[in-house]
Amino acid sequence: MRFNLNRYLLGLSMAIDCVESELLGVTSNHGGRVALISMRLARALGLDEAEVFDIAAFAVLHDNGLAEENLTRSDTLRDRLRQVEDMPIHCEIGERNVALFPFQSDARQIILHHHEHWDGSGFFGLKGHAIPLMAQIVALADYTDLKLQLGEPVIGKRELALDFLDARIGKHFSPELVKAFRQISAPTAFWLDLRTPFLGRAIDRTMPELTIETDWQGILDISRVFCRIIDSKSRFTHSHSSGLEAKTARMAAFLGADPETALQLRIAAALHDVGKLAMPNAILDKPGKLDHAERAKMMEHTYFTRQCLEVIPGLESITEWASNHHEKLSGDGYPLGLGADQLDTWSRLLSVLDIYQALTEDRPYRAALTHTRTMEILQDLVKGGGLDPSLVEAVDRAFGT
Ligand SMILES: [Fe+2]
Ligand SMILES: [Fe+2]
Ligand SMILES: [Fe+2]
Ligand SMILES: [Fe+2]
Repeated sequence: MRFNLNRYLLGLSMAIDCVESELLGVTSNHGGRVALISMRLARALGLDEAEVFDIAAFAVLHDNGLAEENLTRSDTLRDRLRQVEDMPIHCEIGERNVALFPFQSDARQIILHHHEHWDGSGFFGLKGHAIPLMAQIVALADYTDLKLQLGEPVIGKRELALDFLDARIGKHFSPELVKAFRQISAPTAFWLDLRTPFLGRAIDRTMPELTIETDWQGILDISRVFCRIIDSKSRFTHSHSSGLEAKTARMAAFLGADPETALQLRIAAALHDVGKLAMPNAILDKPGKLDHAERAKMMEHTYFTRQCLEVIPGLESITEWASNHHEKLSGDGYPLGLGADQLDTWSRLLSVLDIYQALTEDRPYRAALTHTRTMEILQDLVKGGGLDPSLVEAVDRAFGT
């Protein structure tokens, strides 16, 4: 099947963007601006179309390693994560996380090297042309947007940016790269394209259209890149999405789903909590019960899941199954409050399995519940009218003993 990789990447980029806005305090759509500037620099420097596509992917994914659970263990979250951006580990984790992404050129280690400096004073001490050109490009776009918030409509932004870059020639950046920025940033349209209401369409116009020949297994493999990033966001749920994917695979087989449906269900499971990337770690990592306001915030996550997935052609069923995992047959679930007649078998299955997976996971504040105890809780939820009794029973048969 043909699959539009642009739409997939840009859909999920929204969630990754939320991580960076929260952790680094940069205004939202940073990933998009880094992607747009990087693509334009790449074209100005003569890179080919496969490389232009890849640089957009690298730009969107450049700080995915910031979400890693190991980096989020402390009390003063924001300060600590600002420090993490100053540590090489987020580049190593980020590089490792994207290993399965189907990049179109043979460029690698771009994320690993997005903090290198032209004079060799970066994380790994690479110097001059030893730094991959694509990494240099992403670094310039990233650093300049982080420091100057390039999407804000301020008069004189170009002069400010050029002064900023000129002062760093030979230290952070090569003279050729700054020259290329000077060239691409000359038109008024460049600055308007970076503003939020225009950015999405500007990226669409600039990004090479890329559909790849793949199958559901291929899409599952790519989805695991994001599954890993999602699971990394909180140490409390570090294996939740991958665990749900495994249980979904078992239940799909148990219920006799055809192989294509089974793979689509596993993709939905891998991505079901992608919206959690938009939730603050202060809530995700809270050891105790959430208060009313925190719970209300947390309930937004499946809305974000839908926002990310519904723009991807071909993923219509997956979008429904993934986004409906907190809906209830009784109609009092969220975020849409759908009722039994709007929830198909697979949406119902994912909501049962999501709870089963959560309760049978170890959490820092409690041990994993046994199958028996978990089934008691699921039965109570059936009595409350929330879950499908036949699917709860099937889960009991599949996972009991
Ligand atoms: Fe970074
Ligand atoms: Fe960044
Ligand atoms: Fe969820
Ligand atoms: Fe979940």
